[in-house]
Amino acid sequence: MPARTAPALPVALLDLPDRSALPALTPERYALAHAAFEDRSTQRSVIADWLTARLRRRPCRTAVLSVGCGDGRLDAEVAARVSAGRTAPLRLDGLDPHQPSAVQFLSRVGAVPGVDAGACIGTADAFAALRSYDVILAVHSLYYAVDLPSVLIRLRAALRPAGELVMLLAPLGDLNMVAGALAPDTGGHRQWWSHDLADALAEVGMTAERTTLRGVLRLDDCLDQANETGRAILDFTAQAVLPEALRVPVLDHLISVRMPGQGLALDHPVDAWVVSA
Ligand SMILES: C[S@@+](CC[C@H](N)C(=O)[O-])C[C@H]1O[C@@H](n2cnc3c(N)ncnc32)[C@H](O)[C@@H]1O
Repeated sequence: MPARTAPALPVALLDLPDRSALPALTPERYALAHAAFEDRSTQRSVIADWLTARLRRRPCRTAVLSVGCGDGRLDAEVAARVSAGRTAPLRLDGLDPHQPSAVQFLSRVGAVPGVDAGACIGTADAFAALRSYDVILAVHSLYYAVDLPSVLIRLRAALRPAGELVMLLAPLGDLNMVAGALAPDTGGHRQWWSHDLADALAEVGMTAERTTLRGVLRLDDCLDQANETGRAILDFTAQAVLPEALRVPVLDHLISVRMPGQGLALDHPVDAWVVSA
C-alpha cells in the first residue's frame, strides 16, 4: 500500500505536540466514551434506518457478520427491526478484539427474538471465516485495521454470491480533524479515514458505491470541563487522553466549526461504502 499523507492540521491545533506524544484510550475508557458519544448524535438512528432498509431487501435466512461490532447496541436494534415478521431466523455474528464488547454483543443480539447470534474475539486483520455471509458490516471500525487492502480482500472472500460488504467510515472533516491531529498511532499507523478506504479499494481493484449519511452531534457537555462524561467524550473526539493544556484548544476548534444556532452542535457525517461479492 503506498504511504498515506498525514492530514492537514486545523489552525487552532497547529501548535499542539505530535500525536504520538498522547496516550491512547484504554479499551474500557474507549468503550464507555464511545457509548456516551453516540448517545449525543442523531447519526446512530440515521445509520440504523439505512442498514435496516438495506437488510430488509434480503431474503429470510440471511447471514450477517458485524466486524468491530462493539457492544452490539446498533446491531441489536437493526436486527430487531429486520427480523420482525420474518419466518426464518436472521444469523448475526459479531467480531471484536475487545472481549467485554464481544460478550455484550452476544448478550444483546442473542436476546433479540428471531436472531441466532454468535461472537468471536479478534481483529479484522486476523479474521478467518468459519462460514460465509450474505452481508458483512464494518461500522466505524476499520479506522484501526492494520492493512486495509488485505482486510478488504479477506472480508470480500467471506461473502456468499450476491453478498455485500458494507463499510462505514468517517471522512476527515471538521470534527475529525481533532483525531486526525491528535490520535496516537495504533498498530504502527495513524487512523484511517474514508479517503484512505477509497485508496485501498482502488489499490485492490474493487469498485464500491458510496453514500454519505449525516447526523448532528451535540457536544454541549464538553463545554463544562468539570463534567466527567463531557471529558470522556472530548477524549473520544481526540481518540486520546487529552492533557489539561489541550482541552481548551480542542474545544476552540470544535466551537469554530460548529453549526449555526444554540450550543455546540456539529455536522456528523459518515461515508457508507458498499462492495458487491
Ligand atoms: C467506534 S467502535 C464501533 C462499534 C460498533 N460497530 C458501533 O458502530 O457501535 C469501534 C470498534 O472497533 C473495534 N476494533 C478496534 N480495532 C479493531 C480491529 N483491528 N478490527 C476490528 N475491530 C476493531 C473496537 O474494539 C470497537 O468496538
